Amino acid sequence: MISLYYLNTESKLMTSTATAHTNIAFIKYWGKKDTLFNLPTTSSISLTLNEFYTKTSVTQSGETDQLIINDTPADSRRIHHFLNILRENLGDFPALTVNSHNHVPTSAGLASSASAFASLTAAVTKDIGADLSLSQLSRLARRGSGSASRSFYDHFAIWHEGIDDQSSFAESLNAPANLPIALVVAEISSSAKKIGSTEGMNRAMTSPNYGTWVKNSADQLIDMKRAIENVDIEKIGAIAEANALSMHALNLTAKRQPFTYFTSETQQVLALVRRLRKQGILAFATLDAGPNVKIITHLESAQQIIKELNITMPDISVKIATSGPGISYD
Ligand code: DP6
Repeated sequence: MISLYYLNTESKLMTSTATAHTNIAFIKYWGKKDTLFNLPTTSSISLTLNEFYTKTSVTQSGETDQLIINDTPADSRRIHHFLNILRENLGDFPALTVNSHNHVPTSAGLASSASAFASLTAAVTKDIGADLSLSQLSRLARRGSGSASRSFYDHFAIWHEGIDDQSSFAESLNAPANLPIALVVAEISSSAKKIGSTEGMNRAMTSPNYGTWVKNSADQLIDMKRAIENVDIEKIGAIAEANALSMHALNLTAKRQPFTYFTSETQQVLALVRRLRKQGILAFATLDAGPNVKIITHLESAQQIIKELNITMPDISVKIATSGPGISYD
């Protein structure tokens, strides 16, 4: 254990702030081989999103860890548990008030836990004066939420599944700068009871097809890396869609409590994506732990896809996201 807290005794009255952007996985993390250390069953690849982010400030105050999200006090149990993991790893530090502002549309189903835990890890380590590398930050954030490990890097990141706490972290996937990729997010609201990602993946792992999914994912990861290197957006989209749909097939075929995140509107958007493709428009779908569809496309086709969505499904709201930056500090 490295004790770093006392290196920065002047930090007591300070507020330390960090901003992390959320990310969308093109090769998904959907299952844990170790729940204590949050080690995934597969490596994953994501794109950091410019438009959606979380800004988190921490201040040493009070008797217990407190969480405030968008100016409203929130349940602090998960954060407290995570802060204790940081205390175990970095040395003890006093109770913190965590103030988080989410610039992620809450209904968009874009994992805000990724940007939340990444920005929290960065804000805390800054506050206690721990000078950590991005991979060290990534490794710690992984313990709060797996997808957070990927939110420290700009553009594309790869999270190596690893075999233990040390070897499971994300790093930047050297992608050509200014990749003209866009994500059109179709926000589908759902009244269905939400199944969080941790519960969803635990159920999915009971599918008889799970082993095959893990095996295919390793091949798709290699193909995805090559497609990114070649700036082949069509290939990127095709692999991402195959990976996502097979992930959702696991949910349907789970032996324990099978389920789906798809609604009839999800199916409608997926049908539209297939129709657009037949018309020669570059469009591929990916979905996470919710009913919303994110359409991967070329920047120059994004407006046309938005137009088609507005015509076909005028009631759903649509947002656009592009490739974004890594972690930053105020
Ligand atoms: C479908 O990172 O939210 O978005 O580690 O249990 O907090 P926990 O899970 P989380 O899962 C994200 C699942 C996903 C795919 C992905 O982002 O890779």
